[in-house]
Amino acid sequence: MPYETVDRAEIEHMVHEFYSIVLKDDILSPFFIKALGDDLKGGKWHEHLNTLYNFWMLMMVGKRVYNGDPFPPHAFLGPLGPETFERWLELFHEVVFRLFTEEIAQRFYKKAEILAEQFQYNLSDDDDDDDWD
Ligand code: HEM
Repeated sequence: MPYETVDRAEIEHMVHEFYSIVLKDDILSPFFIKALGDDLKGGKWHEHLNTLYNFWMLMMVGKRVYNGDPFPPHAFLGPLGPETFERWLELFHEVVFRLFTEEIAQRFYKKAEILAEQFQYNLSDDDDDDDWD
């Protein structure tokens, strides 16, 4: 049964599932392995997963547990072309629509799409105005 509500436990499940799949993906895994290693149980991943739980809690539940700026780390990952973002969104779509009801999955996906668009805009921009809100 898909989740009909979103809170910390559901978000933790989704984020963990998403990055397990990302780490097996030929296009995406090199960026993550370079930044965080290849072991989801490793220290850097532990920190990243926790940041992402908090990030999605802010995005989906409105809890102000994330107060960072999601864009800056992406400026230093190497060339993130359109195909990289397309694959990220494709895998994210697969995971949220598998785990949540359609209405909730749409909300997750819409937010991810907007962020992906904004990141690509920032990456193509010479000035480094990366405000996201
Ligand atoms: C091209 C696709 C993407 C790649 C390869 C990618 C990769 C990464 C990596 C490697 C990090 C960790 C950087 C570090 O800590 O050194 C990171 C952080 C993060 N990513 Fe992405 N990402 C992508 C797209 C997205 C999208 C579309 C979103 C938003 C829905 C997102 C949200 C985040 C957030 C919130 C962080 C943590 C930022 C912080 O430290 O506060 N990423 N990403």
